[in-house]
Amino acid sequence: MDPAQFWSTGDYAVVGDLWSAPGRDLAAALPVRGRDVVDLATGTGATAIAAARHRARSVAGVDVAPPLLEVARHRADAAGVDVTWLEADMASVPLPSESADLVTSTFGIIFAADPRAALSEARRLTRPGGRVVFTSWSGTGLFGRIRQTLAPYFPDSPEPWHETPEEIGSVAGPGAEVTEQAFTMTVASPEGFVDLMHRHSAPIIRGAHTIGDRWPQARARLVDVVRASGEEHRGAFRIPVGYLVTTLTV
Ligand SMILES: C[S@@+](CC[C@H](N)C(=O)[O-])C[C@H]1O[C@@H](n2cnc3c(N)ncnc32)[C@H](O)[C@@H]1O
Repeated sequence: MDPAQFWSTGDYAVVGDLWSAPGRDLAAALPVRGRDVVDLATGTGATAIAAARHRARSVAGVDVAPPLLEVARHRADAAGVDVTWLEADMASVPLPSESADLVTSTFGIIFAADPRAALSEARRLTRPGGRVVFTSWSGTGLFGRIRQTLAPYFPDSPEPWHETPEEIGSVAGPGAEVTEQAFTMTVASPEGFVDLMHRHSAPIIRGAHTIGDRWPQARARLVDVVRASGEEHRGAFRIPVGYLVTTLTV
C-alpha cells in the first residue's frame, strides 16, 4: 500500500507522543548546534523540532504523509522554531547531495520499503565527516515483543532488519555503530495502551482490520505482553522501552 495513505490512518500524534523521548534525547546528545540537520520520516516532527530548539543552523523534516507534516508545522510554529517541511519519500529526497551534517531518523527509516535505498539516500544527503543516526525498536524491548506477538497473525509480514546490532550491520554495513538505550513510557494501563494503539496507530488499525474477528484474541495477547513489560506506578502504568541507536559516519 502507498505509504502516505497507510501512515495517514488514525492519529499518529496521539501515539507518537508516547515515544517522542528518544528523538528529544537524540537531539540533545548530538552536536546539532550550528549544524544542518535533515530528519527523515519525521512524522509529527518531534525530532526535527528538538534539533531546531538545540539551535541547529537549519532543519529539514521529510515525510511522505501530509496530515503528519501538518501537525509538525503547527507544532514548530507553536514552539517558535524554523523548520522546512518536505513532503517526499525518504528514498528520494528533493535536496542536493551533502546538504546536511547530520541526518536523523527516529523509528522512521525502519519502515522504508527498501532500507538499503533509504540508507543510501541518507548517506547521499550527508557531508563527508557527517553522520547518519537512526533509532529502531530492539527485538527484546516492548515493541519487539509486540511485533513478535502479532507475527503469527501476519505470516506475510517482512522480516525485521533493525532489531539487533547484527541485523542492522547486515543492512547498513560493517561501519554501523549500534548502542542500546531505553526510555520510560507511561500509559494509563496495559488495556488502555493497546486500545489507544487500536484507535490511533496506523499499523495496529490496519492489522486489526485485516485479521477481523481474530483481533480480540490478538488484543488479549498484547495486553498480557504489555502487562509483563512494566509495572503500576501511582495510578498509571510505566514501561521501560528498549531501543537501538545506530550511527553511520560518512
Ligand atoms: C513510526 S513513525 C515515526 C515518526 C517520527 N520520526 C517519530 O519519531 O515520531 C514512521 C514515519 O515514517 C513515515 N514514512 C513511512 N514510509 C515513508 C517513506 N517511504 N518516506 C517518508 N516517510 C515515510 C510515516 O509517514 C511516519 O511518519
